[in-house]
Amino acid sequence: MSPSSSLSLLFLSVLSLVSFASASSACLAFDTNWDLLAFGFGGKDFNVGTQDSWSSSGHPTDITTSGRPPFDGPNATCYLSQFFNAVYVLGADTSDAAAIYIYDATAKSWSKQETTPGNFNPSSFNAILDHDTNVFYALSGGTLFSLDMGSLKTATGNPIPWDNVQTPAFAASGYQPVMALAQNHVHFLNVPGLSAGQAQIFVIHFSYVQPNPQLYQPAFPASHGQAASFFLDSGVQQQFAFIPDDGSATWVINVETNTTQSLAGPSSKDPKATYFASTNSLVQLTSDGTVSFLPFDGTSTPANAQASWSKISKLSNLVQSGSTSNSSSHPSGTSAGAPSASKSAGSNSSARMRFTSDIVALITFVSGCLAVTLV
Ligand SMILES: *[C@@H]1O[C@H](CO)[C@@H](O)[C@H](O)[C@H]1NC(C)=O
Ligand SMILES: *[C@@H]1O[C@H](CO)[C@@H](O)[C@H](O)[C@H]1NC(C)=O
Ligand SMILES: *[C@@H]1O[C@H](CO)[C@@H](O)[C@H](O)[C@H]1NC(C)=O
Ligand SMILES: *[C@@H]1O[C@H](CO)[C@@H](O)[C@H](O)[C@H]1NC(C)=O
Repeated sequence: MSPSSSLSLLFLSVLSLVSFASASSACLAFDTNWDLLAFGFGGKDFNVGTQDSWSSSGHPTDITTSGRPPFDGPNATCYLSQFFNAVYVLGADTSDAAAIYIYDATAKSWSKQETTPGNFNPSSFNAILDHDTNVFYALSGGTLFSLDMGSLKTATGNPIPWDNVQTPAFAASGYQPVMALAQNHVHFLNVPGLSAGQAQIFVIHFSYVQPNPQLYQPAFPASHGQAASFFLDSGVQQQFAFIPDDGSATWVINVETNTTQSLAGPSSKDPKATYFASTNSLVQLTSDGTVSFLPFDGTSTPANAQASWSKISKLSNLVQSGSTSNSSSHPSGTSAGAPSASKSAGSNSSARMRFTSDIVALITFVSGCLAVTLV
């Protein structure tokens, strides 16, 4: 291997480390007007508007304000509480891992809700927020937990407990949860022992696991993946998207008809990507910070069959030009392109200090190699 190709490899590995570590601190959500909210992008938060404006020129609105979480955790997740037009953010503050930050999308303000985790592990879980009850259901370490957000769009002074609901038999022995919500039922996909197209269902209102799996056809693959429920303007979600880790297709499961649609898979096949859906869009955030969307028509299967993914470049461009790690010596698509927590003001900085020092060490090493190569 020539010195320059090993240098390129080293440089690529530096870049992938930068991208992965920073992009995963961001998360996407919608408000109830179906404006796309992008949190933790270059240390800022943005309202990107509704789907019809995503391809037009102009900048997303900067909605960064006080009280926001630092978005310094690796696995921030966002949930929309539709009745209250509030976004609940978990895992966005490493100094307070169990905190739930609440963004009141009407008042455009933040508050921090403390929780009592008990046996719930805030560093390892998968969750849905139930539409009607505003209760979280989370699978963590094989146990199903719930946490009742009541009517909150502003935090209360009292910590809210994560309650142990039950230990479902299917969740034993290392099941990696794939969870989706539709019709007040929590759907668990890729459960060990189930076939393609089958889901194990937890019925929220009766707090029990249906003994028999439900079949949806045509069958989606029995694979790990990500899921996101499509909202309706009012009422519970009835369809959800499932994206297998290989990104081969976007499956939409309709729990009213027990049928599925197979739509275009995302252009970026990234098993670490996260997804969020509105009424008419599925958005993808990849681990390098790229945001793309697939338009969705809840009533037209033919329209969906024609739909394709597009990048929301106004968000990517803005993040590139707005980042502190902007450097003319970086090729495009490097650390400057990815969301990062580097500009979050007033937050606990130890995590990103560690991260920054790792990067500095790597860049120093690369520079050393470059000097050697030139000599
Ligand atoms: C910052 O976080 C570190 C570890 O997460 C913790 O030890 C430290 O006390 C925190 N500092 C402040 C000022 O919150
Ligand atoms: C983030 O997610 C990874 C993969 O699930 C997990 O191993 C890690 O413990 C999580 N970290 C935190 C701080 O949540
Ligand atoms: C969907 O499946 C369930 C249970 O298997 C059944 O009760 C229901 O009638 C089915 N719905 C339709 C529209 O076929
Ligand atoms: C980033 O770099 C570009 C090109 O060098 C420059 O035009 C732009 O002003 C820089 N942005 C910041 C925030 O430094």
